[in-house]
Amino acid sequence: MSNYHIKHLEEYYQVYRKSVRNPEAFWEEIAEEHFVWRKRWDNVLSWDFKKPEIKWFEGAKLNITENCLDRHLPTRGDKTAIIFEPNNPDEEAQHITYRQLHERVCRMANVLLDHGVKKGDRVCIYLPMIPELSVALLACARIGAIHSVVFAGFSSHALGTRINDSDCKVVLTSDGSFRGNKSIDLKGIVDKALEGCPGVANVLVVKRTGSDIHMEPVRDKWLQPLLDEAYADCVAEVMDAEDPLFILYTSGSTGTPKGMVHTTAGYMVYTAYTFKNVFQYKENDVYWCTADIGWITGHSYIVYGPLANGATTLMFEGVPSYPDFGRFWEVVQKHKVNQFYTAPTAIRALAKENLEYVEKYDLSSLRVLGSVGEPINEEAWHWYNNNVGKKNSPLVDTWWQTETGGIMIAPIPYVTPTTPTYATLPFIGIQPALMDENAKEIKGNQVEGRLCIKFPWPSIARTIWGNHDRYRDTYFSAYEDMYFTGDGALRDAVGYYRITGRVDDVIIVSGHNLGTAPIEDAINEHPAVAESAIVGFPHDVKGNALYGYVILKETGESRDRDNLRKEINQQITEHVGPIAKLEKIQFVSGLPKTRSGKIMRRILRKIASNDTSNLGDTSTLLNPEIVQEIMDNSL
Ligand code: WTA
Repeated sequence: MSNYHIKHLEEYYQVYRKSVRNPEAFWEEIAEEHFVWRKRWDNVLSWDFKKPEIKWFEGAKLNITENCLDRHLPTRGDKTAIIFEPNNPDEEAQHITYRQLHERVCRMANVLLDHGVKKGDRVCIYLPMIPELSVALLACARIGAIHSVVFAGFSSHALGTRINDSDCKVVLTSDGSFRGNKSIDLKGIVDKALEGCPGVANVLVVKRTGSDIHMEPVRDKWLQPLLDEAYADCVAEVMDAEDPLFILYTSGSTGTPKGMVHTTAGYMVYTAYTFKNVFQYKENDVYWCTADIGWITGHSYIVYGPLANGATTLMFEGVPSYPDFGRFWEVVQKHKVNQFYTAPTAIRALAKENLEYVEKYDLSSLRVLGSVGEPINEEAWHWYNNNVGKKNSPLVDTWWQTETGGIMIAPIPYVTPTTPTYATLPFIGIQPALMDENAKEIKGNQVEGRLCIKFPWPSIARTIWGNHDRYRDTYFSAYEDMYFTGDGALRDAVGYYRITGRVDDVIIVSGHNLGTAPIEDAINEHPAVAESAIVGFPHDVKGNALYGYVILKETGESRDRDNLRKEINQQITEHVGPIAKLEKIQFVSGLPKTRSGKIMRRILRKIASNDTSNLGDTSTLLNPEIVQEIMDNSL
């Protein structure tokens, strides 16, 4: 029996039991047999959720790029590592072999070194989904620099905040990006962001769209000539197991985005192991995850997990609707994709279109379908299973988070029988718990509660960059000795988990986590706005959409409401990004507040969702009369 590749349900249970009874021995064996190390660890695990402090494979030395690249060269040097499918279907796809990828990573690593980037320095990456993006992550890892990828849909303000929060020294970007029939001026966004980022010494620019851009003398350089001149080999920096590999920002219920810090060895082991099993990857398969590398799904399951397994991973630059709604399926047919991993929001959008877009293409290569990012509703599950999988490819609904680094609850295809809308069983080594309001664990089946994890797994985030107290308060203070996920879940009669959604103020819109605070801050900066509150409400494609309640200042009262709505959304686009635009904006004279001055979002959520039959207890409100007014005028 190979613990690395699980093939039967009994084997899953057996390996699971082993991983829980003796986690150290279990992970030690996986780490030892499937990765290359410069030095072995002294200790497999030490942890304390109170501090919190978690260390895996302490004392070990390695470089993750040697595991993702160098070790494959003798056996897989000519195998395709990355297939690049451009936005424009008329542009030729690229097949980058492991040997070519290794060389490109080394060249870029040398360019970074030439620009003074050292081990531990932070590099911000703001790039579209082009091969240079994957190369950039690996180039940072090669020299021990910490990458901080910012999704290239974020605004200049959001980018600037993230650059400053982690003191990035260098920014990697491109002149522009292609998305469907649009092109976006990425460099212009970077220029604007850098007006407020004095710590950035250099901007290295990839040429993608060929658009006319400003290049700041000294600071800005075109990347290609530097890569051409750079040496094609670069000795990998020897890293400690617990050295940070990257920072990735995620939204919180309150305050600024949190820079989640992932470290090297545990992250590598866990993402590789989950990739192998959850996608049942076999040599020569073509795997495609449609996420953007700007999110954790792209980090773990486009770049590190697949490459650590020597897989062929497809990167797609475009959008599902361009040149038409058949694009995903055209790409599946063209590259004979075996595993396809996407988000429910994409499925719902495509399910609205004519079925011919799917039926036109030969999807017989598909063996595994995946879903991630938000709960998948029953209708979308069946549409995906029937029309894409032809009821023949298991659909794996994978629950996890930026903070968890890798997949936590998911079926193993061809092993775990699936049930629509259920993420099913915990992955190997994962010990979930459901908690009640009194912070007690709810045992048994057919129960519902708040989802926590009782024991560390190798890829748990180790801290929030620059704010360890916030890390403890957010994840380890609600329940003693537990990691709290922020999600609710139920466990059914057979022990399967179904994730019911966030229990905090994070709102998931089209699979993107949005915190209320930065959006409300953006709205409140509008000169006519006095105060605002946003909540989520159900939306048939986006999962949730944003509903804003806005109180105007006296000066704003005479303004045209539709214009104001446009201006408010413009304000949000500039501060956060277009993904955070409000679907509905209701102008109100007040917001329901508790006596301590907190906005009661629960009530606003119900009104936004048209679910006002039972508003719950409103007796603690300072201004209960406002509720009726808001309800009478709701949109
Ligand atoms: C939600 C994405 C239900 C959940 C990898 C989680 C899901 C948040 C699922 C993390 C799923 C993710 N079913 N909900 N299969 N996957 N979520 O950090 O609320 O972008 O806490 O990580 O997305 O989103 P993040």
